Amino acid sequence: MSAITKSTILNAIKKIDDKNFNKNSLTLNSIKKLEQEGESLTIDISIPQLNKETDFNHEKIVDAIKNDFPSLKEIHLNIQTRVSNVTTHKDPKKEAVLPGVKNTIAVASGKGGVGKSTVAVNLAVALAKDGASVGLIDADIYGPSIPLMLGVKEKPELIEDNGKARLIPLEAYGLKMISIGLLVDDNMPIIWRGPMASGAIKQFMTDVAWGELDYLVFDMPPGTGDIQLTLVQTIPLTGAVIVTTPQEVSLIDARKALKMFERVNVPVLGLIENMSYFIAPDTKTKYDIFGSGGGERVSKELGVPFLGGIPINTRIREGGDKGIPIVFDIPDSDESGIIMDISRNLSEQVNIRNSKSSGKVEILLGDDD
Ligand SMILES: Nc1ncnc2c1ncn2[C@@H]1O[C@H](COP(=O)(O)OP(=O)(O)O)[C@@H](O)[C@H]1O
Ligand SMILES: [Mg+2]
Repeated sequence: MSAITKSTILNAIKKIDDKNFNKNSLTLNSIKKLEQEGESLTIDISIPQLNKETDFNHEKIVDAIKNDFPSLKEIHLNIQTRVSNVTTHKDPKKEAVLPGVKNTIAVASGKGGVGKSTVAVNLAVALAKDGASVGLIDADIYGPSIPLMLGVKEKPELIEDNGKARLIPLEAYGLKMISIGLLVDDNMPIIWRGPMASGAIKQFMTDVAWGELDYLVFDMPPGTGDIQLTLVQTIPLTGAVIVTTPQEVSLIDARKALKMFERVNVPVLGLIENMSYFIAPDTKTKYDIFGSGGGERVSKELGVPFLGGIPINTRIREGGDKGIPIVFDIPDSDESGIIMDISRNLSEQVNIRNSKSSGKVEILLGDDD
């Protein structure tokens, strides 16, 4: 028998086979307390209030845990509903295509290879770790890499929903995810990918069973050409995040990306500087490999919030390569802490943006964890 940990308990619960039981909304983060005393286990589960229609059957959960851990004689299960403090981007266009989604965020870059997908994945996991319901759409037609970065290999299932065929998003680390890589084949010429991109993204918004989400994050194709512009206009965006590296070539392209969003009236929620600096693991000395302060300078110059800088670090790359984002894999690392902070800065910017557009400052409910 395996040890009793959050993850083995979650596995046990996820074995419940009942379509009324929405286990999709349960993540490691949902388990707030786990205390074992001999043959007795106390477990507190927190679920977002937006899933309250879900049948979180007490008895079924207790049975599932007993099934995997027969030595437990007593299980005290407490289920709490948590009030979400994520505000909603009120927009008729969004209501029409994504009625259950509160906010949509594009992660963009002027240039490829700056770590846009790495940042998108880790930000999405970070938001989910703080209790939000998060979806991720891999919209990068040039290099769809999200399935790899999340270690997801299976194809999404198609279900019949009120006479309409819908895709069930794949799941990993508490996220729901769909990738354009599932539709385009690696050998498909790039010139064909462009025209199909906006059609595919439309389908990802309307024909995927996203359910209720606080954030739907889009990993956009890099660049500022026609394809990117069309996509930005296809998605009803709450705002965009721009990823850059500190080098001048990358900063020039980040400025172009900012201008593109400005032109189509999509607010830029902030700039993130990736591969900002390197901290030597032995001496802890900080090296500004690609120069320093560029991202922050461009933010100031263009009047957009600077959300933070992420250091260059082998463990960040390894996380991507092995399909376990660092924020999930090594939560106690400095890098994960930095990314968690950036994700909180981002959700703050989303709330600011939403209170501006609704013409009133919404009172934010405190986290009741
Ligand atoms: N902060 C970082 N530290 C180390 N490696 C990184 C970092 N950010 C990204 N990488 C690595 O750089 C490469 C490009 O990143 P990726 O996210 O695929 O870029 P993009 O989506 O912009 O093309 C990947 O191998 C990735 O693991
Ligand atoms: Mg990418």
